[in-house]
Amino acid sequence: MSKYTVKNTPGNTDWFIHDRFGMFIHFGLYALPARHEWIKQKEMIPEAKYEQYFKYFNPDMLDAREWARQAKNAGMKYAVLTTKHHEGFCLFDTKYTDYKITNTAYGRDLVREYVDAFRAEGLKIGFYYSLLDWHHPDFTIDGFHQRRYDENAKELNEGRDMHRYAEYMRNQVTELLTNYGKIDILWYDFSYSKNPQPRDWMKAKGKDDWEAEKLIDLTRKLQPGIIINHRTEIEQDISTPEQSRVTDWPKDKETGERLIWEGCQTLSGSWGYFRDETTWKSPEMLIGLLIKTVSRGGNLIMNVGPTSRGYLDYRAENALKAYGDWMKYNSRSIYGCTMADPEFEEPDGCRLTQSDDGKRIYIHMLDYPFSKLELHGFAGKIDYAQFLHDGSELFFHDEEIADENTTITLIDLPVVKPNVTIPVIELFLKD
Ligand code: GLC
Repeated sequence: MSKYTVKNTPGNTDWFIHDRFGMFIHFGLYALPARHEWIKQKEMIPEAKYEQYFKYFNPDMLDAREWARQAKNAGMKYAVLTTKHHEGFCLFDTKYTDYKITNTAYGRDLVREYVDAFRAEGLKIGFYYSLLDWHHPDFTIDGFHQRRYDENAKELNEGRDMHRYAEYMRNQVTELLTNYGKIDILWYDFSYSKNPQPRDWMKAKGKDDWEAEKLIDLTRKLQPGIIINHRTEIEQDISTPEQSRVTDWPKDKETGERLIWEGCQTLSGSWGYFRDETTWKSPEMLIGLLIKTVSRGGNLIMNVGPTSRGYLDYRAENALKAYGDWMKYNSRSIYGCTMADPEFEEPDGCRLTQSDDGKRIYIHMLDYPFSKLELHGFAGKIDYAQFLHDGSELFFHDEEIADENTTITLIDLPVVKPNVTIPVIELFLKD
């Protein structure tokens, strides 16, 4: 239960709100070109050429247990794997298409391996499922399709039948939600019914095309309690802003109620493995994103894109290690925490979180203020203060500022920043 009232939703979100930190995994044929998971549409690659990636797909170094260990060590509590991304390639042994991992050199059902490995490490299990499908013969060509500028694109659409495609999705979702035990999250992606289309006869797609109501009913029937995101264009349990700066807690546009939300972020700007991408985030940025998200009542799902050989490259590995090193000592400010009561002002360069029972406040010093930290709104409320990473006492005192008719609190800090990427002060409040 959260100390804030959030918009009521059908799924079981209690564990989700507590756990706060998850791993997104984008893996598919696009790991071979290693130039973005949208490569088929960006470069308008014809099927025959894209076939090569299917032909040579062979993640010989893939060990799902290793992924799971890395996630766990980073402090992540749940994961979401792309069972099918927009390219249409399925990572599971489905009856409804040949375009699946069991027909590649890899030969095994990766969804099964993922579920077993992550469950064994105690993580909750999520499936990402793409609503778009650039391989399926019934999926009509629209502004996102790789053949959008083909001369005969309009004719190619004749005979394509989105009803059949919607049924295909329901069949696959049935497989995913019956063959792998308890599934905690279904992450549908995405709707774009308002997107302008490049050619006048084209139609953008949304909930009606996915037959989203039926899809959601089915999902709930097969896995009661599952968490579903908003991206079918029908609001469900969680809102999932993507690669955005964390400023405010997202609210329902009509009712103003707070939403349960999960920021989804990348290590380097792309979701699939992108060899030549150079915008990899620093440890400060990565840890900062987690803190900022929880400080506004949200979850963070951080993405990794394994290489086509199936392992996480050194940049991803380093990033996860940075999380792990920090979380080992500081996770108490993340798990079971949320936005602090607004009566406690966020000091300059800092972000606050508060334990759900209200008894502890965490000050994350993104900018380390040597020697003293000035607090507003805390006077008379603190019982004890310490650094979180080593549990060492910090002295503090209240000071009246007569001119301003207010009392501030000053915390004494060592001049040299402790050896922690982002140091955290733990405050125990008076009862
Ligand atoms: C997007 C992209 C995509 C990615 C997803 C994750 O909508 O289409 O490639 O899977 O966001 O949030």
